[in-house]
Amino acid sequence: MRLPDDLDTPALVVDAGRMEKNLARMADAAAAGAIALRPHAKTHKCVQIARRQLAYHAAGLTVATLAEAELFAGAGCGRLFIAYPLWAGGGRRPRLAALHERAELRAGVDSLAAAGELAAAVSGTGRPLQVLIEIDSGQHRTGVAPRDAAALAAGCLRLGLDVIGAFTHPGHAYLNPDGVAAAAADERSALATVGEALEGLLGRAPVLSGGSTPTAYDGMARPLTEARPGTYVFGDRQQMHLSGITEGDVALVVAARVVSVPRPGEAVLDSGSKALSSDRPPWLTGHGRVLEAPEATVDVLSEEHAVVHGLRSRLAVGELVRVIPNHVCTVVNLAHELVVVGDGTVADRWPVVTRRSSSSSAPQSISS
Ligand SMILES: Cc1ncc(COP(=O)(O)O)c(C=O)c1O
Repeated sequence: MRLPDDLDTPALVVDAGRMEKNLARMADAAAAGAIALRPHAKTHKCVQIARRQLAYHAAGLTVATLAEAELFAGAGCGRLFIAYPLWAGGGRRPRLAALHERAELRAGVDSLAAAGELAAAVSGTGRPLQVLIEIDSGQHRTGVAPRDAAALAAGCLRLGLDVIGAFTHPGHAYLNPDGVAAAAADERSALATVGEALEGLLGRAPVLSGGSTPTAYDGMARPLTEARPGTYVFGDRQQMHLSGITEGDVALVVAARVVSVPRPGEAVLDSGSKALSSDRPPWLTGHGRVLEAPEATVDVLSEEHAVVHGLRSRLAVGELVRVIPNHVCTVVNLAHELVVVGDGTVADRWPVVTRRSSSSSAPQSISS
């Protein structure tokens, strides 16, 4: 991808052709396994991309926050799963009720306390809220043990919630590139256990929703009925180690400019932690891969500086470089737009929906 010389940096540059290939590949894999795809939109937070995913037959979108759900519903993407143990108290009840009335909403639950708040929030709408029980399949973040899922589901039914299934995020796939297949097996086994118990309780086949890009690329298979990968849309440096993708599959780079060449073998870029984020798994060295100098390491970040060591050839002050970030979701979260580039020119600019333009009572930030 050739960058326009006059690009203002740092900028997030999208190769739309590669992105389309990524979207098509995941959609084809899901269709081949007869699994519904519900991509996690926190990766891009971009309405234009959400619409492309829906055009590739996504069953709906996954989001992590109430604000993300409100923003996508407001843009006409109304089939939404908040795959998070959402707390509907603290003044959120009216927002959840309003969203439930205008969207096809599902929410995650891993406690009776939060389930009670969800049920209270929608009680005046005359329509029960669909919920999925969150299962811990090995990440040990949120979720109940598979053996406890049926009891929580029964409690949710008593509260008047419409339990439609269970979900899990096998985030332990990110701990070690050699552990992806085992995490995918954990995901399938946890959902299989819960699936049997819920089918007995509900009297119908439950939705069994799995997550993560690495485990989806490992092979989407039953008992999953739905998958929620997010990062696949762009790929990133982590996924090059976890998901078997190559540099040629990565559809988003951070365009940065060399601002200083203080010593031989070193250069400083204008993409500090406020552009690249500081996310780095323990098994990865450095804060990104510089495509113009793959031998070098982005060793040190401060807010506006990225210090590159180990350059074999000199980079010039003012030169534009492309950096594949470690974790694209946290990078997009810091940006306000995605710059779509083709043939050395800017073809489009897509907003990242981090802020509401209206002055409603809903929050200004998509992260709340
Ligand atoms: C609950 C849940 N589902 C799905 C995903 C998407 O996984 P990935 O980022 O591997 O694409 C995430 C990512 O954090 C998640 O937390």
